[in-house]
Amino acid sequence: AFEVELKRSQKTFTVPPGQSIVHVMQAHGMDIDVSCEEGYCGTCMTRYLEGEPIHRDSVLDEEDREEFVMICCSRAKSKKLVLDI
Ligand code: FES
Repeated sequence: AFEVELKRSQKTFTVPPGQSIVHVMQAHGMDIDVSCEEGYCGTCMTRYLEGEPIHRDSVLDEEDREEFVMICCSRAKSKKLVLDI
């Protein structure tokens, strides 16, 4: 599990194994735009501010990955991932 902090929303959630960041956010009543939920459409692209993502998408290139993460499928290797949401 890892924590996801939503900087602008001032919320922090725990993302357990087997659940996506998007699912956890939706479970807390947040309205998140998703489409494929498998990392290829680009809909859920989100800027991150701190932490180290484990990228599981197939749309971002190496440069994009330093700034963005696809929150439908990617996870974090750091304890916490801070998103610009
Ligand atoms: Fe398609 Fe995340 S919803 S890449």
